[in-house]
Amino acid sequence: MPGNSQELVVRKIERGTVIDHIPVGQALNVIKILGVGGEKHTVAVVMNVASKKYGRKDIVKVEGKELSTVEVNRIALVAPEATINVIQDYKVVRKNRVKLPERIQGIVRCTNPSCITNKPREPVTPTFRVLSRSPLLLLCEYCGSRISQEDVVKQYAG
Ligand code: CTP
Ligand code: ZN
Repeated sequence: MPGNSQELVVRKIERGTVIDHIPVGQALNVIKILGVGGEKHTVAVVMNVASKKYGRKDIVKVEGKELSTVEVNRIALVAPEATINVIQDYKVVRKNRVKLPERIQGIVRCTNPSCITNKPREPVTPTFRVLSRSPLLLLCEYCGSRISQEDVVKQYAG
């Protein structure tokens, strides 16, 4: 039963969120972005399983947690095709695709310390153009710096 191979790896959860259709290799970045690697949450990670639709994928299941809009938008940066499934009583009660817009506003900081977006007195919202989606590469609209996926994940971890 190749379609159900993930069920053999990790059981269904009772309540919480399943982040599905994560690109292979990005599950740990999703965990870092959500800050759920510690004592507070029960997390199940499935890596490199066959997807019913195409290719292979990672899955992250977080018991007892619902995601905020900001968290969902951050996940789109490393998993632009991810599906967010809200689980209650073992059932999927809501399913949403994340969305990676062409311009990223507010949720990423520029890595250039002298960029105007990093000046405390300037009320400028950092804004980036998406040069590449997978792996992510952003271009700061203010100073032209390029921000890699690794830079973005570092900003959210810890
Ligand atoms: N899931 C879970 N616990 C539940 C219900 C679902 O961990 N109580 C997981 C499933 O294993 C799957 C994901 O949540 O990885 C979405 O479930 P479902 O919508 O039933 O699966 P699909 O129809 O395959 O989803 P999609 O169409 O989005 O690929
Ligand atoms: Zn900049």
